Amino acid sequence: MRRYHVTTFGCQMNVHDSERIKGMLEAAGLGEAPDRDEADVLVFNTCTIREKADDRLVQHLHDARGRKDRDPDLQVVVAGCWAESQREAIFKDFPWVDAAVGPGRISSLGDAMRADGERRGAFGSFDDFAADLPQRRERNFQAWLQLSMGCNSVCSYCIVPSVRGRERSRHPREVLAEARSLAVDGVVELMLLGQNVNSYGRDLPPAERCTFAEMLRGVDAIDGISRIRFMSPHPKDMRGDVIAAMAESDAVCEQLHLPLQSGSSRILKRMRRTYDQGRYLDLVGRLRHAMPDIALTTDVIVGFPGETEQDFQDTLDVYEAVGFDHAFTFIYSPRNGTEAAGFEDQVPDAVKHERLERLVDVVQRHAAARNAALVGTVQEVLSEGPSRTDPHVSRGKTRGNKTALFTPAAAAGTTVQVRIEETTSQTVRGTVESPVPA
Ligand code: SAH
Ligand code: SF4
Ligand code: F3S
Repeated sequence: MRRYHVTTFGCQMNVHDSERIKGMLEAAGLGEAPDRDEADVLVFNTCTIREKADDRLVQHLHDARGRKDRDPDLQVVVAGCWAESQREAIFKDFPWVDAAVGPGRISSLGDAMRADGERRGAFGSFDDFAADLPQRRERNFQAWLQLSMGCNSVCSYCIVPSVRGRERSRHPREVLAEARSLAVDGVVELMLLGQNVNSYGRDLPPAERCTFAEMLRGVDAIDGISRIRFMSPHPKDMRGDVIAAMAESDAVCEQLHLPLQSGSSRILKRMRRTYDQGRYLDLVGRLRHAMPDIALTTDVIVGFPGETEQDFQDTLDVYEAVGFDHAFTFIYSPRNGTEAAGFEDQVPDAVKHERLERLVDVVQRHAAARNAALVGTVQEVLSEGPSRTDPHVSRGKTRGNKTALFTPAAAAGTTVQVRIEETTSQTVRGTVESPVPA
């Protein structure tokens, strides 16, 4: 039997797409290889969000070429956003790539792998939902649930709209049917996915319209689903009905990833984020009013073109004012074809790096403080199995999405109540009080 190996880069959308890719390859009779070295088919599901992502991938492709020189039967397959961005050049620049498909054409993967010549590639035409393909889930108690694909925003730094296409919402009936069947399969936690997940439904025909808030309530009503999270919401679509649905739905976790990007209203405007500092802070206030314990995480970009020391200080000020639980921090990376890549006033690398360091210190300090505040509290933890270093310790996630380490160990998929005893900026640690009554 030929064996495949999938290497996934990028966001959760790609992780989910990789489950579909694995499902399709297995449906076609391939088995999974434990690592790249033992695979007959190497699949790279790629990301192109920042330059670093591209560089890493190109290195992987050169390694694959080395292997292919020794083993001409090896098939090299490239899927995802980088493949889409390179659609014109990929087979010329990387002639050892056998097949490539963009994120909207995962269902064409099998054809591309069998074809030769021109038809090795399938790009554009974002008309099929990967969600409708077979899938192979990593964990039996957690699942992704795709609500939409693509993005209609025009953030001036971002390449996603050009590689993932316009936003399309899945029909609510299909989404809810998949959620129900996952629950029947034993899934307890769902991660609702969309590039701009909380604008879900706007593009549906009026007769079928379902808002994101209604979808949250619909999934919450499904028996067996005890945890709902979603990625990634846009602050502009975080309206009152969504906040109310979050607060009133028991299964929706007290956690939100709310990308800030910058704390400077001037920079936010140039980013085309459509909110300013005041609106963001007001939103945080409304969220905390409705859900006092909510854990907030965010994305921040430093060194966007034209960012002055004062703009960066505004970002630090907003960060301090909100006191996020954690953040992904990025150095601005110009992407070909995006509006901001053409701005004249690019920030020097040294300044970007220096700002990133200062920001990371603030992020770490708040992460440590937010976690320390949980000492003495009891947190509901969904076990994901043994910790990496000690089989007597289990690892899992709190509803606030913190990594929890606890004893005594509990089987993966079980929910326990853990009294938190000590914390770091990365983890909380404690002892199981009692299992949750079923
Ligand atoms: N759709 C999501 C996530 C997009 S990509 C959202 O809007 O939140 C994830 C993060 O990468 C973004 O939130 C942003 O912080 C960062 N990012 C996107 N483009 C970037 C670029 N050109 N340079 C640096 N960071 C970028
Ligand atoms: Fe990119 Fe903005 Fe769309 Fe997010 S909302 S994917 S940052 S364009
Ligand atoms: Fe990367 Fe594509 Fe996701 S560019 S961040 S894998 S949408």
